[in-house]
Amino acid sequence: MTSHTLYRASVLHTPTSPFLDPAALHAEADGGLLVENGVIRASGDYAALSGAHPDVPVADLRGGLLLPGFIDTHVHYPQVRVIGGLGLPLLDWLDQCALPEEVRMADLTYARGVARDFLGGLIGAGTTTALVFGSHFAGAVDVFFEEAARVGLRAVTGLVVSDRLLRDDLHTTPERAYTEGRALIERWHGVGRAQYAVTPRFSLSASEGMLDACGALMREFPDVRFTSHINENSREIEVVRGLFPAARDYLDTYERAGLVGGRSVLAHNVWPSDRELDVMAAHRCTAAHCPCSNAALGSGFFPLRRHLEAGVHVSLGSDVGGGTGFSLLKEGLQALFMQNLMPDGVALTPTHLLYLATRAGAEALGLDGVTGDFSVGQQFDAVHLSPRPGTTLDAVFRHTDTPERALAAAFATGTPADVARVWIGGDEVYGRQP
Ligand code: GUN
Ligand code: ZN
Repeated sequence: MTSHTLYRASVLHTPTSPFLDPAALHAEADGGLLVENGVIRASGDYAALSGAHPDVPVADLRGGLLLPGFIDTHVHYPQVRVIGGLGLPLLDWLDQCALPEEVRMADLTYARGVARDFLGGLIGAGTTTALVFGSHFAGAVDVFFEEAARVGLRAVTGLVVSDRLLRDDLHTTPERAYTEGRALIERWHGVGRAQYAVTPRFSLSASEGMLDACGALMREFPDVRFTSHINENSREIEVVRGLFPAARDYLDTYERAGLVGGRSVLAHNVWPSDRELDVMAAHRCTAAHCPCSNAALGSGFFPLRRHLEAGVHVSLGSDVGGGTGFSLLKEGLQALFMQNLMPDGVALTPTHLLYLATRAGAEALGLDGVTGDFSVGQQFDAVHLSPRPGTTLDAVFRHTDTPERALAAAFATGTPADVARVWIGGDEVYGRQP
């Protein structure tokens, strides 16, 4: 059976990158999106669309903003309950806050509760696609895939693997990492909306043998993704340098294992060398920028200008639980703040923030023909921002005259409380309680 809906709203999206195209923002103050079985079939001015399709039922979403669903390209599922370990540098935060909680994921009942908390928070913030750091336990990764399928998230995730310097109860072996990874890929990759990401935690906790096992999976399965951390914290970088004396730099530890390519998303990259940026650009590898986490853990200022000048693709990540919550509105704002505070920062606009929170993530994950903007043929993945009456954002929305200004206000002061409805592939996956 065919289902049609004509969504009427103030619609904004960025089908191209504003870092390259000054006309990247498409905005319709009274716009329409014609959706058939979850796929966008037409878009434009509402009056014209409703004239051409008079019999299609209309979903009236006026009074807010309709944006493409957000795409979080770096977030840790096991860490949802430990958000807020503020004030510690990365390695102390891992030891004291993150890793003790990650050990608890061995209990699959516990893991299911965490997965539900995580997915509720993520989708309730308007995120419809996410590259998710899974668990060190294969059973907890199965649990996550099951729960993500249940709620309909476009999830890219995998088994996190490490064989040194974390804690014994989180370590595995390269052989086991390969075998369990392979089984998870065969069980989940390409099933429904799920994709698999090969995920060594970081070079600090992964021996050469472990990274080689990850490389073997990447060679064997040419469409799974790869993710890890890189160049986040100066102490971390020093330890990695000592562990890989033959490597030219941090990126080289991944490069040697064949892990740097167009399917790779490396989180943070606060302290890259010029060589690393050049190689990332040449291999079309993405840097996932996590500005709240970088500030919360004191990791540093992300050199966005150097990434852009080198030609490295950049997307956005919340990095929960090092980050401070799931809202990509907040991440966008924090990215802007940090660039404003840097001597050579990039002057970001709301259009850049929208692109970073949506289409840039789709490009990072090879999903730009599926999601990330409202072009015809894309899945209807969308978030309706509609502040409750009486809130500050509501006051601003009622007194702004253009969708562009409303977008700026949404990034400046919007929160998950302003997310009214969320759709993935045309399915409504979240509706705020009245
Ligand atoms: N590096 C290795 N593991 C982690 C983690 O869980 N969070 C962050 N922010 N960095 C890491
Ligand atoms: Zn992280």
